[in-house]
Amino acid sequence: MKFTDNTQELKSFLKTERNNGKIIGFVPTMGALHMGHSSLIKKARAQCDIVVCSIFVNPTQFNQAKDLEKYPRTLEADKALIEEFCDYLYSPASVKEVYGEEIVLKEFDFVGLENELEGEFRPGHFQGMANVVSLLFEIVEPNKAYFGLKDYQQFTIVTKLVELMNVEIEIVGCDIIRENNGLARSSRNELLTENGREVSSVISYALNYIKLYHSSFSVTEITDIAKSMIEGILEVEYLEVRDAKTLKEVKDWNNVNGNFVSFAGMIDGVRLIDNIRF
Ligand code: PAF
Repeated sequence: MKFTDNTQELKSFLKTERNNGKIIGFVPTMGALHMGHSSLIKKARAQCDIVVCSIFVNPTQFNQAKDLEKYPRTLEADKALIEEFCDYLYSPASVKEVYGEEIVLKEFDFVGLENELEGEFRPGHFQGMANVVSLLFEIVEPNKAYFGLKDYQQFTIVTKLVELMNVEIEIVGCDIIRENNGLARSSRNELLTENGREVSSVISYALNYIKLYHSSFSVTEITDIAKSMIEGILEVEYLEVRDAKTLKEVKDWNNVNGNFVSFAGMIDGVRLIDNIRF
């Protein structure tokens, strides 16, 4: 694995690969890598000739300066985890290396996708995320890019982003990786107490309950049942059934785009998200 913190150097490496007809797969991350990330990298490895991974803690997608500061930076451990599967690791030396001298954010028209669900709790987050992803796409020019479906809203927005950028990048969604008890893998799980980690299995239990039994209930009824399973264990921010494409509320089970059930909640002072689709 070649490491670079320099944008021009990465571009020139990748130009050579592209000129040799190589298919480039890209996995953008913010580091603190875990099994969820390595599954994206392994998928890219299986589908592409060249695998590029980036580690960049993007300041424009954080709502609170404190969260940005607290975000774990574990470059050496990250390198060790992905070395075997990745060809180029790009970890820009500075914010300027990605954004240039001054951060000027574009305002993408995501037809409101960015204001639903997480967007209500994290204003500006998705525009910041999309800005950095578009810059990284311009730098790497990948054929395929890999995103975890745990952040399903991010995945739908990035899919829209490539349409707006008018570039031929295939966005590949990768399944959620779970702990043995069903808890979705996240860097934040490390911050949970042992008990918190155990009892948070109720999230995937409740989501699966909706998937299995939805046809016997109305959307409101089953959402209330699932919420009551979780409340008392976690503080529920939202648990909602949405249209899997538009992310808008659904009133019944007849929508043609499929259903996306999205959860966010707090335990041990840690915010967890999860989802299921059917
Ligand atoms: O999912 C993430 O880790 C980040 O949102 C991403 C896509 C790397 C952009 O900073």
